[in-house]
Amino acid sequence: MKLGIIGAGRLGSVLTRLAASAGYRVLVARSGDPAPIAARMQALGAEAVSVDTLVDESDAVILALPLGNYRMLPAEALRGKLVLDAMNYWWASDGIRDDLNDPRTSTSELVQAHLDGARVVKALSHMGYQDLEDEARPTGMPERKAIAIAGDHSDDIEQVARLVDDLGFDPVAAGPLSAGIMLEPGAEAFGADVAATQLRDMLDGFWTSQRGIIVARARANSG
Ligand SMILES: NC(=O)c1ccc[n+]([C@@H]2O[C@H](COP(=O)([O-])OP(=O)(O)OC[C@H]3O[C@@H](n4cnc5c(N)ncnc54)[C@H](OP(=O)(O)O)[C@@H]3O)[C@@H](O)[C@H]2O)c1
Repeated sequence: MKLGIIGAGRLGSVLTRLAASAGYRVLVARSGDPAPIAARMQALGAEAVSVDTLVDESDAVILALPLGNYRMLPAEALRGKLVLDAMNYWWASDGIRDDLNDPRTSTSELVQAHLDGARVVKALSHMGYQDLEDEARPTGMPERKAIAIAGDHSDDIEQVARLVDDLGFDPVAAGPLSAGIMLEPGAEAFGADVAATQLRDMLDGFWTSQRGIIVARARANSG
């Protein structure tokens, strides 16, 4: 399977290494000319290409760029593709953006609305890159950590779950794409570097948490 990773920074680089180690063919892109990242990606076992080439040639695409840039993603070319949204709203890099911070809508739903026709699943977003680097373990190893997945289609969730497992983590289904808000900054699961049972407890507790109550009220008031 050919995996494309858009974004070659902290998260993109760790995911590149994990996926290449797991036997995936990995293509990686930044916003412009891929030449400046070519040697670094080659050392990680991947190939640096343009975004257009990556989208064209990949079976699945991971979004590991700043969320604030999501509208730069090529919606038409991504039509029909499985897209893993690993992005979060982070004001320090994205600036103050009320459109990315609306409790009525998970940010993955915004990405899905832009990538009309793509199959967007939220995954690989809540664990810090250093933890992803340190905690990846083969299936069945003790103290294996978990990664939550939110998506609207069971086939896509299953496919992403296999990828998460291949990268070294236990997949945990969080619900539909709207439930991706349970993984965003402000939720207990954001930053979680825990096993599947603990992650499940965090997700189950979301709607009685302070953030969950704000989200529920905002969604109820929006009709
Ligand atoms: N850091 C973490 O621990 C972590 C964990 C989970 C999720 N995330 C999320 O992952 C995303 C990336 O975080 P990061 O910490 O890896 O950021 P980062 O280190 O700043 O890297 C961002 C990467 O995205 C590329 N990029 C920016 N705009 C782009 C565009 N329009 N098209 C293609 N590539 C573009 C940048 O390349 P150029 O600027 O050179 O083009 C750079 O390679 C964020 O949404 C973040 O919330 C981060």
